[in-house]
Amino acid sequence: MTLISTRRFLQIAGLAAATFVLAACGKKEEAPAPAPVASAPAPAPATVYVVGTDAAYAPFESQNEKGEIVGFDIEVVQAIATKAGIEVKFVNTPWEGIFNELGQGGRDMIVSAVTITEERKGTMDFSDPYFDAAQLIAVKETSKVAKFGDLKRLKVGVQTGTTGDEAVSKLLGKTNTNIKRFESTPLALKELEAGGVDAVVADNGVVTHYVANNPGGKFKTVSDKEFVPEQYGIAFKKGNSELLGKVNTGLAAIKADGTYDQIYTKYFGAPPAKMADAPASAASK
Ligand code: ARG
Repeated sequence: MTLISTRRFLQIAGLAAATFVLAACGKKEEAPAPAPVASAPAPAPATVYVVGTDAAYAPFESQNEKGEIVGFDIEVVQAIATKAGIEVKFVNTPWEGIFNELGQGGRDMIVSAVTITEERKGTMDFSDPYFDAAQLIAVKETSKVAKFGDLKRLKVGVQTGTTGDEAVSKLLGKTNTNIKRFESTPLALKELEAGGVDAVVADNGVVTHYVANNPGGKFKTVSDKEFVPEQYGIAFKKGNSELLGKVNTGLAAIKADGTYDQIYTKYFGAPPAKMADAPASAASK
């Protein structure tokens, strides 16, 4: 048996490898085209409507430890979407600029404890009302404030551009430097705790929730009949009547079958008193 040199061995091995690669390639080329899929073409992906929400407004919308957006508004819209047969996804959107996003098409709807007001109706459309609310004053337990008018000479915290801001602007004058405007309601309430403001005016549901969950803050609440009744609606870009119609149908369905009451009870401890029949009154016109 002839002893082949290492060099010759490598030549042979190299040739064999090259042959193998070529064979493999050839085989690949000859492979039949995959058989067409027999079943029906995949359905077009469903439209996912983008819902903007300022998720710093518990119990209506907030972020849990995992960063998920949760709350009463979220569950209501999810239940509406199920009934209406539409898909939604929630996107955290700062309150300032939230309606701009809607107008420019970055969001298809806004659910954010938004009060239906005559002024806002000029630039956006609203669903039927889904929640009754009013402004509520938060002060320190030791405060002498007993009614809204008592805030006249005090430093008052509000969330910029909310109906609370509008109410306080009316009482104190829009440019009064005693009005301290914050980008979120929790920030205003933290400032109250720190003593930087004497009172905060915001939606009753949020104030009540915050006071109950922050006993260390030693707050109390003061209500006043002077605050006009408010109603929340889901906001749409003006003229988007197709989506608005679907949402109103879904809302009626969850009110009719008890789903709405269930969600309400989960968040507020008892089913709602009958919703106000009157059309949403403007918080401030
Ligand atoms: N209801 C009030 C308004 O419409 C406050 C809403 C604020 N909502 C929020 N998620 N920050 O002006």
